[in-house]
Amino acid sequence: MLKGSKVGLRARHEDDIPILQAELHDDVVNYSRTVGGAWRPITPGSKTAQFVVDDEEQRRVPFSVVELDGGTLVGSAVLWSIDNHNRSAHIGLGLLPSARGKGYGTDVVAVLCHYGFVVLGLQRLQIETLSDNAAMLRSAECNGFVREGVLRSSAWVMGEFLDEVLLGLLVQDWKPDSKG
Ligand SMILES: CC(C)(COP(=O)(O)OP(=O)(O)OC[C@H]1O[C@@H](n2cnc3c(N)ncnc32)[C@H](O)[C@@H]1OP(=O)(O)O)[C@@H](O)C(=O)NCCC(=O)NCCS
Repeated sequence: MLKGSKVGLRARHEDDIPILQAELHDDVVNYSRTVGGAWRPITPGSKTAQFVVDDEEQRRVPFSVVELDGGTLVGSAVLWSIDNHNRSAHIGLGLLPSARGKGYGTDVVAVLCHYGFVVLGLQRLQIETLSDNAAMLRSAECNGFVREGVLRSSAWVMGEFLDEVLLGLLVQDWKPDSKG
């Protein structure tokens, strides 16, 4: 398990999946704001649904997020579109509603940076988020990510086009214990 100061990132367990699907996927607004595609219901037992892990997929490393104190599942985190030629990857995360606003998101980003830069040897990490997602923007910026641009009207979310902010962090600018 990878450890931050408050949360740990471990492998996805079978019994995490129904919790993540119920609390994150089945919230249509949350899904629409975070995944970047049209929501549809999950067929029971689907092997390709959100949060089901494909261990053969090399370009994507999914984690379950747990509290270090007690091991309770609090969310999902992923490095996706891992590109070993350009040595870059994207970060994604989603916390259960009851786990938000406690500093866990900031800690998850810190752990994913450690995984990407130290374990995988990447050079660049990237985050895209809606421009009104203050908690995600702050979680990224607390870890040294800088805003590199605004993708105007790039996301169709529940009936309207919204702007996304693109943030990046290069390994040489990363300060492992940076906060705030
Ligand atoms: C986005 C998310 C991962 C952030 O994690 P979090 O644990 O809630 O955030 P933190 O508690 O670490 O807070 C990070 C910062 O944002 C601020 N913040 C938290 N919630 C906020 C809110 N609702 N509005 C404004 N600021 C907020 C905190 O004060 C903190 O700032 P500080 O360091 O200056 O004090 C989490 O809220 C979440 O899972 N949301 C739903 C899914 C999602 O949006 N995922 C991201 C998709 S790109």
